[in-house]
Amino acid sequence: MNFILKRDKTMENKNLNDKITLKNGSELKNRLFKSAMSEQLGDKDHNPTSKLVKLYKAWGDGGIGVSISGNVMIDRTALGEPRNVVLDDKSDADKFRSWTKAGTSNKTHFWAQLNHPGKQSPKFLSKSPVAPSAVSLRGGLKNAFNTPRELTEKEILEIIKKFATSAKFAKEYGFTGVQIHSAHGYLVNQFLSPHHNRREDGWGGSFEKRTRFVVEIYKAMRKKVGNDFPVSIKLNSSDFRDGGFTIEEAIKIAEILDKEGIDLIEISGGSYENPNMMGKPGDEKEGYFIEYAAKIKEKITAPLVLTGGFRSAKGMISALNSGATDMIGIARPLAVETDFPSKVLNDIDYKIYLPHLSTGIKALDSMVMIGLTWYEYQMYRIGKGKKVNPKQNAWSSALQTLWRVGVHAFKQRRA
Ligand SMILES: Cc1cc2nc3c(=O)[nH]c(=O)nc-3n(C[C@H](O)[C@H](O)[C@H](O)COP(=O)(O)O)c2cc1C
Repeated sequence: MNFILKRDKTMENKNLNDKITLKNGSELKNRLFKSAMSEQLGDKDHNPTSKLVKLYKAWGDGGIGVSISGNVMIDRTALGEPRNVVLDDKSDADKFRSWTKAGTSNKTHFWAQLNHPGKQSPKFLSKSPVAPSAVSLRGGLKNAFNTPRELTEKEILEIIKKFATSAKFAKEYGFTGVQIHSAHGYLVNQFLSPHHNRREDGWGGSFEKRTRFVVEIYKAMRKKVGNDFPVSIKLNSSDFRDGGFTIEEAIKIAEILDKEGIDLIEISGGSYENPNMMGKPGDEKEGYFIEYAAKIKEKITAPLVLTGGFRSAKGMISALNSGATDMIGIARPLAVETDFPSKVLNDIDYKIYLPHLSTGIKALDSMVMIGLTWYEYQMYRIGKGKKVNPKQNAWSSALQTLWRVGVHAFKQRRA
């Protein structure tokens, strides 16, 4: 049935099926945006596998307007996870082209999320991870991540270049846009944070200097891909920690990037230290960061995407009509129902119920790890051409991931 006919009369005239046009003229076919989920389905050389091809074809066919890849690393010596995909001059062009062909099926925009983990590269992958300053992750995370060393200026400039090179290859290999991962405590976010960035040179010490890294990355990418190719960013609304990056700063950064010409801004929040991006246990709020998004949206002209917690068509429409966001970011529901977008686009009463993942041990349940491995396991199944298994219990998906990716996949998230 046609969505418009089914629409509740109390809803304003704004719906999930509406197209949206970016500043550069690119048209997005609807308001639904697949947020990045690291799939851990790269091969041993960090190229995309046939499982990724199958997974993104399913998402493309499922009706999503924009599909963001799981984080793709810009430097093969700095990984966040063992099976990350890397995009650089050693990447296999044909394997990437197969992936982008599948991801862009059904007129879907398919954008690569480009990332450098900085200090959030686990011990078994990085003896000496890099960061703006030598500040270690706190609490239990100390066991999983080595204390980082401070980047030299030369290295900072090289990393900026690598982001730009990855963006260039993304365009060449068929992605229809890119996204800078500047959220969740990874390197770009570390530069923005006064807690993690204690530098007193040209890259830290004041708000402007902390912001320089992301602005330079944006400009370098833009130079490589031109004005017609969408360049977007995933930004934290706040780090939700003392001395971290605040909403006031998020607003200012969004304004700066908006003026520089960024095509779209996605809003999330939190980090490994405070995983607010996943919501609080039992939290049923749709749009975890909606109040923050509303404040940012007021100040920018680029479309804004709000991610976190959306589970129902009504919740999504209500967020759009609140004026806080232009698009709806969705992650976990898509690992369970690849056609979740088609369902919410066609049925205003549609809602997905995700399982409460519990190990039976309260202390363990508060960790991100169980939530991540369960969803990763579902993506792996889709990639293998199997049906998802929503009844899979939390422990067995963790053990499956352990078996598939190795003990390290478990260790890195133990904090
Ligand atoms: C398995 C998994 C992997 C994720 N990997 C990434 C990632 O690579 N990059 C990113 O920006 N966010 C990542 N996220 C966070 C999601 O993009 C999203 O912000 C979060 O899950 C909240 O949205 P949701 O409530 O719709 O799931 C991941 C989430 C999950 C469940």
